[in-house]
Amino acid sequence: MSTRAAGIVASQVILKNNSVLGLATGSTPEGMYRELVKLNQERTVDFSGVITFNLDEYIGLPPGHPQSYHHYMHHHFFNHINVAPQNIHIPQGQAGNMAETCLEYDQKIADAGGIDLQVLGIGANGHIGFNEPHTYLKMQTHLIDLTEETVEANSRFFDTAEEVPRQAVTMGMGSIMQARRILLLASGKNKAPAIKETVSGKITTAVPASFLQLHREVILILDKEAASLMMELDQRFHIPGLWHRDVS
Ligand code: PGA
Repeated sequence: MSTRAAGIVASQVILKNNSVLGLATGSTPEGMYRELVKLNQERTVDFSGVITFNLDEYIGLPPGHPQSYHHYMHHHFFNHINVAPQNIHIPQGQAGNMAETCLEYDQKIADAGGIDLQVLGIGANGHIGFNEPHTYLKMQTHLIDLTEETVEANSRFFDTAEEVPRQAVTMGMGSIMQARRILLLASGKNKAPAIKETVSGKITTAVPASFLQLHREVILILDKEAASLMMELDQRFHIPGLWHRDVS
C-alpha cells in the first residue's frame, strides 16, 4: 500500500515540480512517508518546489508535543526531505484568534492555486481530516469538537485519557472536495464499514467521506481487510466507475 501510495505522490511531483500537496497524519500514511523519503534521498523525487498543506491539528498541543501533528509531519517526513520550510503549512492549534487563523489558512490554499493531490486517511466513523459525522459539514477550515469515537481511537497515542485532545482545527470539506485528485488510504477490518459506506452508501453528513462519491478523481488504496465489505458488495452491485479500484 505504502509503495503504491508513494508512487502516486511521487509521480504527481515528478510531473509538476511545484505541486500543491494536501497531507494527512495518522498511522496509515506512515509507510508512504517512509517510501517518499527514500525516493527523495535517492534523488528520484525533488520536493524543493512543492507546497504542502496539512489537513488538521489538535487544539491545545504545542507544536513540539510528540503527539502534535506538527511533530508527526516533521518527524516522519519534512525533516528528511528537501521541502522548503516556508512552503510547509499546518493548521495552528494554539492560535489566539482561531477564526482569523482559519480564514488565513484557506486564503493560503487559494493563493497557492488549490490542492493538486490530497492524501486522506479515513476514520472508522467515516471522518476525513477531522470533519466528523454531524447534522451538517463545513466548507471552510474550522474548529471542531471531536466525537467520543475519535477521542477513543486517538487515545492509543496518549498515556492518560485526560491528555487526549477533544478539539481540533481541520480543513473543511471545501478544500478537500476542490482538490484536483484525492488519494485515500485505508487498512484494517475496522475501516471496512466506513469504506463500504464511502463507496456505495448514501451521501450523508453522517459519513463525511461519502461526499467523495461526488468527486471526479478519487484513488482508493486499500488492503484486503478494509476492502472486504466493498468486495462482497461488488459481487452484488455494479459500483460506479468513478472509482479507481485497486485492492492490494
Ligand atoms: P489512522 O487515522 O490512520 O491512524 O487510522 C486515520 C484518520 O482518523 O483519519
